[in-house]
Amino acid sequence: MIGIFDSGFGGLTVMKEYLKQYPEFDYLYLGDQANNPYGPHSKERIEQLTMKGVDFLVKQGCQLIIVACNTASADALRAVQQKYEGRPVILGVLIPAVQEALGQSRFGNIGLIGTRSTVASGAYERELEKHSECYQPNDKRAREKVKVYPQACPLLVPLVEEGMLKNPATRMILRNYLRPLKHAHIDTLILGCTHYPLLQQEIERMMGKNCRVISSSKASVMAMRSYFEQHPELLEKLSKNGTRKYVTTDSPERFGELGGRFLGERIEVERVEY
Ligand code: DGL
Repeated sequence: MIGIFDSGFGGLTVMKEYLKQYPEFDYLYLGDQANNPYGPHSKERIEQLTMKGVDFLVKQGCQLIIVACNTASADALRAVQQKYEGRPVILGVLIPAVQEALGQSRFGNIGLIGTRSTVASGAYERELEKHSECYQPNDKRAREKVKVYPQACPLLVPLVEEGMLKNPATRMILRNYLRPLKHAHIDTLILGCTHYPLLQQEIERMMGKNCRVISSSKASVMAMRSYFEQHPELLEKLSKNGTRKYVTTDSPERFGELGGRFLGERIEVERVEY
């Protein structure tokens, strides 16, 4: 079974991509809605909460765990990976997004938007530096060092959760957040938050056709293909009965209602305590 961990229902944008690419697997989705949002929390708190959520998924028998939340991936992935030492395999969403962005970038001007905590962690910058070999522009003159332009967008998560996707207030706020990135002439923008794929069309429109927009939710699922190729034993081990289970640490009703919007289908949700 694949476990998907998120701070709430945002990770359903990741789950949605998994269900499209790999409908055959069994899934257990855990949204820690009781402690949501993670974005404004300290690194220590995010580590503690992520550890508890991952512990729960391990106890349920997940052989592969995806930390779908960017904030948790940025602040806590290393700690949970160190604890479990590869058994089960625990993966985050940052590296696939970074590799995709570097692969697509033409001039190495990469923007990043995310929660306050994701941006403050500097984790995306570290991964961009570590994977700089993925940046291979055709034009040799463009082969300068990659420059990263991070921008925290703390208001976007609540706006998306309120369903204000097409609201003029959301457009105005989004335009404000994106302005410095436009001025920096970024050529690639990483959507470093589970909620932003719901605003992707609007973001693409605002950034214009010279900027490629990379969704970390989509990139993380696309990267699994080569991961499974390199680790066929994991692919073999994962059960494939097509079951899905959704659990949350808070009200299942609210989770079901909002989660359905993220996933694009109705879901039954159970409450869990751990
Ligand atoms: N899931 C979080 C992320 O991707 C956004 C919501 C939160 O702050 O918990 O960063």
